[in-house]
Amino acid sequence: MSALQQAGIRGIGVYVPERILTNRDLEKMVDTSDEWIVNRTGIRERRIVSEGMATSDLACLAAERALADAGVGSEELDLIIVATNTPDMLFPATACLVQDRLKARRAGAFDLQAGCTSFLYALTVANNFIATGAYKYVLVIGAECMSRIINWRDRNTCVLFGDGAGAVVVGKVPGGCGILSYLLRSEGSGGPLITMPAGMSRLPASHETVEKGLHYVHMNGREVFKFAVKVLEESCLTVLAEAGLTLNDLDLLIPHQANARIIEAAAKRLNLPPEKVVMNIDRYGNTSAATIPLALFETLAEGKIRDGDNLVMSGFGAGLTWGAVAMRWYDYSQEKGVE
Ligand code: UT7
Repeated sequence: MSALQQAGIRGIGVYVPERILTNRDLEKMVDTSDEWIVNRTGIRERRIVSEGMATSDLACLAAERALADAGVGSEELDLIIVATNTPDMLFPATACLVQDRLKARRAGAFDLQAGCTSFLYALTVANNFIATGAYKYVLVIGAECMSRIINWRDRNTCVLFGDGAGAVVVGKVPGGCGILSYLLRSEGSGGPLITMPAGMSRLPASHETVEKGLHYVHMNGREVFKFAVKVLEESCLTVLAEAGLTLNDLDLLIPHQANARIIEAAAKRLNLPPEKVVMNIDRYGNTSAATIPLALFETLAEGKIRDGDNLVMSGFGAGLTWGAVAMRWYDYSQEKGVE
């Protein structure tokens, strides 16, 4: 990538709802068990938004924290991208609601929807606005209220998902750091494997669509599983090679958190030890576009990412879409207090 400027993360913040829904709680709702969920997915609990809260609320809370971490004022933002599959409504875009709440007067705003890969797609868009020098700061937010589009009577899906948000401020970083390479891919023929069929132009909302539950997530888990393991491995290797790195140079893989078994299988194929693979699915489930920023935030907070570390973030999801970003971590906190 011949960038005029190097782009990277200069601030991060997350928000997860307080309410915890455990596997035991789910046992009372559908025919499932804590044992099945833990063994098949690695999930123990997930966060659920309270009544009246929506994706923009989570997104704003995460964004305010990311801006504070970056030391960037909302009026300095050039662009806000909300990566989400669960916008407050189809339009106006959730990003516009966020722009208003943050009083980001100079910022353009749009939503980006690419299934669970949405955050990586949005990060890549932000990267290119910074790399070309067009913009100084882009706010990228992965935010989801998956609990609002799940059929709580369908045990195939309701045990998997959770709500949450993670935001990053993307800006210029010193040469050699930041986003080194990226890969974005899609395979639309796999669309029916994860879909919410009704509510838009193909099947407008009607009594019939509601009765048939067509405004909920429908998924062929087994097929998505196989696809996910394959693309996690391939995309990780591709972005590393494009960055001129090998698996030996990789300090940390931050994969989309959809299923612990998917992550473990991909890590095994890549021959990566568990300490190099981030996993927090046990506490949040699959928060779709929010999993990667949530996992990045927690790993940073635990002090496990140092200046100069090579990271790969890799994801997959509805579309089908998949993607990865290789990044050399720039520790922007070292700039604090140095003007
Ligand atoms: O972010 C991207 C979106 N989605 C994903 O990444 C999901 C990818 N797929 C998966 O994570 C896994 O395929 C699942 C966790 C969804 C399912 O695990 P699996 O090992 O592939 O199970 P399965 O679908 O093959 O089902 C095995 C059995 C079935 O029963 P029978 O037909 O063998 O009698 C299911 O009905 O497990 C049953 N089952 C459950 N049992 C208890 C499915 N869900 C449940 C449940 N509790 N919650």
